[in-house]
Amino acid sequence: MKSYFVTSSGTDVGKTFVTAILARQLRKQSFRVELLKPVITGFSVGDRNCDSAILLESLDQNAEADHIVAISPWRYNEPISPDMAAQREGRPIDFDELVRFSKTNPLSGDTSPDFHFVEGIGGVMVPLTEKKTVLDWIHELGYPAILVVGSYLGSLNHTLISAMALERRGVEIAAVIVSESTLQPVPLADTVGTLKRFLPASHVLPLPRLTGGLDAWQEAPDLVTPLFLEAPEAAAAGAS
Ligand SMILES: Nc1ncnc2c1ncn2[C@@H]1O[C@H](COP(=O)(O)OP(=O)(O)OP(=O)(O)O)[C@@H](O)[C@H]1O
Ligand SMILES: [Mg+2]
Repeated sequence: MKSYFVTSSGTDVGKTFVTAILARQLRKQSFRVELLKPVITGFSVGDRNCDSAILLESLDQNAEADHIVAISPWRYNEPISPDMAAQREGRPIDFDELVRFSKTNPLSGDTSPDFHFVEGIGGVMVPLTEKKTVLDWIHELGYPAILVVGSYLGSLNHTLISAMALERRGVEIAAVIVSESTLQPVPLADTVGTLKRFLPASHVLPLPRLTGGLDAWQEAPDLVTPLFLEAPEAAAAGAS
């Protein structure tokens, strides 16, 4: 089983979107996939558009309450940072329990999946508790990161700061996926080109804006082959 942590340079950039596309593309190639969204804020019961429901849909699993609870044990109503939501709602996050849960496969039962993805929350440095951040969570798990970023003005700075934070803690950045923003100052390929120059050790892949949203997932470029299926030497050559 290969495990990855999907994180970002900020909130609302495309983590759920990218995770759902990866799950669809892997499943199309007959790989078994498990997706977790352990901590979710801004959550309300019955919301079919919440991250947990979108991830379940990409697995063709129904988004009934029991499935949502299974992949998202820490659910908070307020759309604010998790440490604040947890404090205000009187249910603090037990960091060790969060790490333990993030290694489980609640949807897969006895069959181990081929790929296991954990979607974080917000960006790399978002606080989870009084002292711990998302970065501590990734580091403790030891999973390589998939860093989802945008192509909006300012994204290069946000991306390189996030990458620096991950690298400083020794977290491998398996991929940087640039999910095209609605407003961007230059073509997507230019942002990708700059990031490749500054992050030569990572795959940097573009994901164009899909006007049909996730319903149009079949229109997305193949992310799975370069990220997971090509030999490292071939992948490096392709990335240059
Ligand atoms: N490449 C894309 N094409 C079309 N829509 C996209 C793309 N990337 C992101 N979006 C849309 O942008 C919005 C934000 O994306 P998403 O919810 O995946 O972000 P996120 O990083 O998971 O946010 P959060 O921090 O709330 O978890 C969503 O409406 C999503 O459908
Ligand atoms: Mg999300």
